[in-house]
Amino acid sequence: MAPKIEVIPSGDALGAEIRGLNLSQAMDAETFARVETAFNEHSVICFRDQDLTPEQHIAHATRYGEPQLLFLNHYAMEDHPEILYVSNIQREGRDIGYADAGIVWHTDMSFERTPPRATILHAREIPITEDGVVLGDTLFASATKAYESLSDAMKNRLNGLRVTHDAAGRRRKSKTGLAADNAQHATHELVVHPLVRRHPHTGRRALYVSSGECETIEGMADEEAIALIDELAATIVKDEFIHRHKWQVGDVLMWDNCAVQHLAIHDYALPLRRMMWRITVGYTEVYE
Ligand code: SIN
Repeated sequence: MAPKIEVIPSGDALGAEIRGLNLSQAMDAETFARVETAFNEHSVICFRDQDLTPEQHIAHATRYGEPQLLFLNHYAMEDHPEILYVSNIQREGRDIGYADAGIVWHTDMSFERTPPRATILHAREIPITEDGVVLGDTLFASATKAYESLSDAMKNRLNGLRVTHDAAGRRRKSKTGLAADNAQHATHELVVHPLVRRHPHTGRRALYVSSGECETIEGMADEEAIALIDELAATIVKDEFIHRHKWQVGDVLMWDNCAVQHLAIHDYALPLRRMMWRITVGYTEVYE
């Protein structure tokens, strides 16, 4: 018999918790269909209190699409190259993981021709102060609701525009990141995507642009392009479109890169440790 699951919306513009599942066990087709429907509807879903092995994490993630090859593959888990460590933990003075992931608003790997449909994080260690304050939250913004909030005149103006995504952009602008990682990003080719993308499963349209990674719009003067990019980026992150995730150890949280942007809050430092196992799945065309 299929397990009884509950989908509890966050009450924000996006986000829901799914209760009643133990992700270490394979989901039957009916349960998976319900989870996928909830994912498409809420864009960010969280399963609390999980304790997955790397193999179980990969098996669950692979239900939503093929694991993507990692760009910063020197932060991959030994023996499990699908999993990237997102972490501030160091070994022999060096970061073992991608320590500055998510420092500006973005969607994952938008600088790829076929970026990942979803990103899935399994929280293994969370920074908590001596007073019990949980740090290292992640913010999510609905680029879908932001698009839907635009005037018809603005929607018409955006129709058919194509924007350049630069892997090195946010690092150049924020002046952060390890020199070696920045150099690797700088070698990545520029990719052009529609500025408004149609969701491959729901058909809803979303803004696909960020100030961190985008600087030019095809056929538009630079000054005008930057002004438009910044205006749209500011619209996406309006309070009304935001959901804030407060982490617990054991969370498996996944987000829809076709519909949301996210920002990791770096308000913690060693000796407070944060360790996430991240998998990105599903090579996805960016449809107009
Ligand atoms: C990311 O941007 O992939 C990391 C998000 C986080 O660490 O909260």
